[in-house]
Amino acid sequence: MDSKIDKLNEKLAQAYLGGGQARIDKQHQKKKLTARERVEYLMDEGSFEEVGALVTHRTTDFGMADQVFYGDGVITGYGTIHGRPVYIYAQDFTVFGGALSETHAEKICKIMDMAMKTGAPIIGLNDSGGARIQEGVRSLGGYAEIFHRNVKASGVIPQISAIMGPCAGGAVYSPALTDFTIMVENTSYMFVTGPNVVKTVTNEEVTSEELGGANTHASKSGVAHKTSLNDIQCLEDVKTLLSYLPQNNSQTPQSLDVNLKGEVREVLSDIVPNNPNKPYDMHAVISGVIDDESFYEIHKNYAESIIVGFARLGGRSIGIIANQPMAFAGVLGVNSSRKAARFTRFCDCFNIPILVLVDVPGFLPGTDQEWNGIIVHGAKLLYALSEATVPRVTVITRKAYGGAYDVMNSKHIGADMNFAWPGAEIAVMGAKGASEIIFKKEISDADDPASKLAEKEKEYAEKFANPYAAAKRGFIDEVILPQNTRRKLLKAFSMLENKKVDSPKRKHGNIPL
Ligand code: HXC
Repeated sequence: MDSKIDKLNEKLAQAYLGGGQARIDKQHQKKKLTARERVEYLMDEGSFEEVGALVTHRTTDFGMADQVFYGDGVITGYGTIHGRPVYIYAQDFTVFGGALSETHAEKICKIMDMAMKTGAPIIGLNDSGGARIQEGVRSLGGYAEIFHRNVKASGVIPQISAIMGPCAGGAVYSPALTDFTIMVENTSYMFVTGPNVVKTVTNEEVTSEELGGANTHASKSGVAHKTSLNDIQCLEDVKTLLSYLPQNNSQTPQSLDVNLKGEVREVLSDIVPNNPNKPYDMHAVISGVIDDESFYEIHKNYAESIIVGFARLGGRSIGIIANQPMAFAGVLGVNSSRKAARFTRFCDCFNIPILVLVDVPGFLPGTDQEWNGIIVHGAKLLYALSEATVPRVTVITRKAYGGAYDVMNSKHIGADMNFAWPGAEIAVMGAKGASEIIFKKEISDADDPASKLAEKEKEYAEKFANPYAAAKRGFIDEVILPQNTRRKLLKAFSMLENKKVDSPKRKHGNIPL
């Protein structure tokens, strides 16, 4: 018996060593943790149970029969994070550069299937040279099996991808199909084709970092939802993100204890400047209404004219979508619409109520926007919010002009509670632009056109640049004092907690993708 136990222990010891100490040292020299160290750090102490530690590849071509490593380049299993069950796979760069073989893919698929069956989040830690070159189409098939599961799991269980090394070629599509992608700065990159192919095809000279590094994807493409300074911070980011999410689409996120003092927040009264054209930081409004320090921003450096992220209100998770007057006056553009639409759909999939803070002068004009399809991308946000059945509350802090008023969670597209601050301007456009159009002749005929314009502007502003025309019609439920906003939101979301909406039967809608 002892020899049988010794044999098992020997195999497990080999599995724990991955590709061997020399390759582990190399991984550490690159300031990267090994797959096993990452898993141990991420999961609650002692909770991780490995599945498939002794799996090996089945390839014999190219001398592969002599290169066999237990685990085959990926660690898979389950455990808990903050006491909640999760499933995980972590690619092991020390084994064939974490390259994906048929068996490596089978291990990932097995763990994804278990996550689906039991209704728990799946986390993928990616660090891989892509398709296992020695395996050819078997590897490609393995990728597609994973993609197919990513799609089936979408909207059923949360899927989080951490990119902690290379992620290239078709391999990028699994993270892209998941809900959130977090990239480690300087040690990770994602691209469909690397710098060498780019040089050959387009003659562009570009580094891996410029082409597909964490900052590129967090600011230019929007592929990354967040970046982290190093492996440890990335794993902490994954843990924090998870804390806002439910286990699956039939549950609501866990509620945390909260001290409900500070419901009235005077600080909110001084944020919006009197001059309607002066910017202010919408983050101040966000932190003025949520539980202290609870904001977890998504896509912070991408399409900055809109802010999205999770927060807690009275201990419960909410999703926040907010125009940012500090960036392009908070205007809706191609990317900001896509960003907010995607976030809306995530919240709606996973029963996370949505708060929309509005200060929007309209859609961004210009050939760049029109030619890049602002019509269709703006429609995404309109569609996503219209379709969302989670509790939806709006606060208009200042401007809500034109079509953007409709889009930004207006009553007309199904918002449940719509508040406005006393300085809100809900109108087709700003008073100056409106006066220039409708009083054009009167102004040009005047002895002093400038003072005529000012007079008409004042007249228009008094009539329309306020929240009362909308409140009269019930489009705004209540005009509230800024300092009471948190209190009003706590009550509104609590009132809406048991909201139920029956939607007509259909296979799925046809969101303008
Ligand atoms: C098999 C691989 C591999 C791969 C790396 N290795 N990539 N083995 N298949 N795709 C092995 C190396 O042979 C080496 O083995 C070890 O992993 C570490 O690789 P290094 O090159 O020494 O590491 P580094 O210098 O850090 O470079 C990492 C790398 C580079 C940039 C990822 O290895 C690389 O370019 N690999 C090829 C990437 C690639 O073209 N993949 C296919 C993409 S197409 P030893 O034994 O020395 O430790 C694709 C299609 C997917 O993925 C389609 C899905 C639909």
